[in-house]
Amino acid sequence: MANIKYYTEDHIPLEMHKVRIIQKLHLLPIEDRYKAIKEAGFNTFLLKNRDVFLDMLTDSGVNAMSDRQQAAMLVADDSYAGSETFYRLEQKLTEIFRTKYFLPVHQGRAAENIINKVLVKPGDTVLMNYHFTTSKAHVTVNGGLVEELITDEGIIEESDLPFKGNIDIDKLNEAINRLGADKIAYVRIEAGTNLIGGQPVSIANMREVSAICKKHNIISLMDTSLLADNLYFIKEREEEFKDKSILEITQAITELFDLSYFSARKLGYGRGGGIITNDQKLFDLMKDLVPLYEGFMTYGGMSVREMEILTIGLDETMDEDMINQGPVFIAFMAEELLKRNIPIITPPGGLGCHLNAMKFLDHVPREEYRAGALAGALYLVSGVRGMERGTVSEDRNPDGTDHLANMELLRLALPRRVFTMSQVKYAVDRIAWLYDNRHLVGGIRFTDEPKVLRFFLGRLEAVSDWPEKLMAKFRADFGDSL
Ligand code: F0G
Repeated sequence: MANIKYYTEDHIPLEMHKVRIIQKLHLLPIEDRYKAIKEAGFNTFLLKNRDVFLDMLTDSGVNAMSDRQQAAMLVADDSYAGSETFYRLEQKLTEIFRTKYFLPVHQGRAAENIINKVLVKPGDTVLMNYHFTTSKAHVTVNGGLVEELITDEGIIEESDLPFKGNIDIDKLNEAINRLGADKIAYVRIEAGTNLIGGQPVSIANMREVSAICKKHNIISLMDTSLLADNLYFIKEREEEFKDKSILEITQAITELFDLSYFSARKLGYGRGGGIITNDQKLFDLMKDLVPLYEGFMTYGGMSVREMEILTIGLDETMDEDMINQGPVFIAFMAEELLKRNIPIITPPGGLGCHLNAMKFLDHVPREEYRAGALAGALYLVSGVRGMERGTVSEDRNPDGTDHLANMELLRLALPRRVFTMSQVKYAVDRIAWLYDNRHLVGGIRFTDEPKVLRFFLGRLEAVSDWPEKLMAKFRADFGDSL
């Protein structure tokens, strides 16, 4: 996005890329969408893509590739061991992050598997700003506990705080004193913070956390999956860095951490992942697990084409005009929703625009999953597929009760460089209609509930005939429109 002044228009975001490959979309009539969401058990993960109009489920592995990325696939060096492609990627990571060691893995959670197998002993605690679903599951599956140290303001839905992903330093010091440094497997910063609305972390906060970890000899780890958006926010919102290049900001960050990992489905506009470090001891501890779980050390479960894509994608991540496309479009969508008084997470963060289902559906009981119900209702009235990020995304407490999430969000991801402004405006229009008709939306309940990460495969149903009533109102208001 470029900072352009307009003559006749208010400020509108302007892309610094053009689209040269397209994919045809289908928008089914609402009656067919109802069939599809019922068959999917009111779980948008279980919808078939052919039934989806705008896929805002995630930004993961679905970002648009550039011409350079497409071209790079052709020079991929396919070999089981010692591929040139791997060395090109390794060199790019060193150039950008100034790290010596790289372990390739097939995606972010594979990095989490290896890191937690090596670092977490039963009874240990992992301290973090906020959990991500898979990052928490990999700690607990190894017998560890997760403690979240997000600032109290971080989980207030509507705010104007620039860095809502920051760790509360008092809480960090208190936790270390209470638990003892030797009981803490590592401290994890997720930048940006997915489940609270893609909220960024400041370098000032990272510096404080890093210094405390060094003082107590605790391993500091950064999840850089959502780093691209966070880099942009640092440049925009943190005074010290407003004149620094994206590369300089990146290097100021990575030198603070003992260990970083990423999902290349997000970072680098590709698919894959990796662990990077300058610490040879940590590298040696983890490296044997790569051939065991992922594949040989020079591919780690990634195809060579994906590695070439990632090498170029990392370069593009250092280009401000590329990485600001996501956050600027998200801010545009957020502004349009705010104009219509629709409750969303503010300030807008990265990854996507987050509807605040806690407020949007405040008449639905918490145990009937406000964010899940909103995800089903929005798909029904628009063909837009979002992702529930609330109580359905939490597994139950040991005593079988629902673990009520801090926030009930419907995440509408804007995969990087994928959607047009008119598509965003269509989504806003249907959300506005749904908001005006929100009293028609009811709750949902599980019919089939997996024990771990239930949100992926769980099935639910409407607690009443509310979807039929919503559909009837849609037909009354929109006639035979799709
Ligand atoms: N860390 C963060 C912050 C993530 O957002 C994700 C994935 C992962 C780790 C795991 O990476 O999917 O490659 O195994 N987030 C996706 C999402 C799934 O839709 O937000 P992965």
